[in-house]
Amino acid sequence: MSTPTAVVTGASSGIGAATARRLAAEGFHVWCAARREDRIQGLAAEIGGTAIRCDVTDEAQVAALAEAVGPRLDVLVNNAGGAFGADPVATADADQWRRMYEVNVIGLMQVTKALLPALIASGAGVIVNVGSTAGRIAYEGGAGYTAAKHGTQVVTETLRLELWDQPVRISEIAPGMVKTEEFASVRFDGDEDKAEAVYAGVAEPLVAEDIADAIGWVVTRPPHVNVDELVIRPRAQAAQHKVHRVFD
Ligand SMILES: NC(=O)c1ccc[n+]([C@@H]2O[C@H](COP(=O)([O-])OP(=O)(O)OC[C@H]3O[C@@H](n4cnc5c(N)ncnc54)[C@H](OP(=O)(O)O)[C@@H]3O)[C@@H](O)[C@H]2O)c1
Repeated sequence: MSTPTAVVTGASSGIGAATARRLAAEGFHVWCAARREDRIQGLAAEIGGTAIRCDVTDEAQVAALAEAVGPRLDVLVNNAGGAFGADPVATADADQWRRMYEVNVIGLMQVTKALLPALIASGAGVIVNVGSTAGRIAYEGGAGYTAAKHGTQVVTETLRLELWDQPVRISEIAPGMVKTEEFASVRFDGDEDKAEAVYAGVAEPLVAEDIADAIGWVVTRPPHVNVDELVIRPRAQAAQHKVHRVFD
């Protein structure tokens, strides 16, 4: 039997890098896609995968990714994404909102569209979209990101309906608070005090490997088992606003 293959977008850090490692450990040849080439090259060398520079918002780069992957693909993890800013609607930055929609929704659509023929050709493809609990609720200052992640959720549901007669499963993983090295820092444009405040007093937020573990489980179920969605939070986060924080 040939080695199964997987594409992970946003593989240069956090959840994407952990997922690439996890899928490699499960026996997949992993295509590690992201914009920062040095990082994905190091990761690909470590796990015996292939690095491919790809900005998911750039149609030509996405087409090149599909061309490189070839006619057959078993797993696609649409993980590239993120939040930019946390301003209330009254002072929101339209450019930040556009960028969030571009990467979390349009990028996901473009990559899915380009790789779908190869996933169908595998006879048992799986698409895992990394959404968020932000795609389930609203919170003050979060509208640009929550709107985009609600978009991720709705696109996932739509795909499952549209592909009902195709050999492709569609799942969404919706994490709550995950302490990754860059997510909050990117959101607050490098302001480390604001980034640290997100996790302040939380003894055990989720880590990237917790989400990678779930993705590894989802994609290794038998082909007739579709895990529609998994919402995963740290125990300390009973709801978006109800976080157990302990300060000395
Ligand atoms: N951390 C959390 O609390 C949390 C919670 C729920 C959901 N999520 C979601 O989980 C996913 C991963 O987040 P993370 O915490 O691992 O954040 P992260 O460490 O900031 O990783 C984001 C990844 O996306 C890539 N990326 C960003 N824009 C891209 C683009 N245009 N084209 C290709 N790759 C792009 C980045 O790589 P390059 O910059 O090298 O391109 C990076 O590898 C995101 O979709 C995020 O919304 C995170």
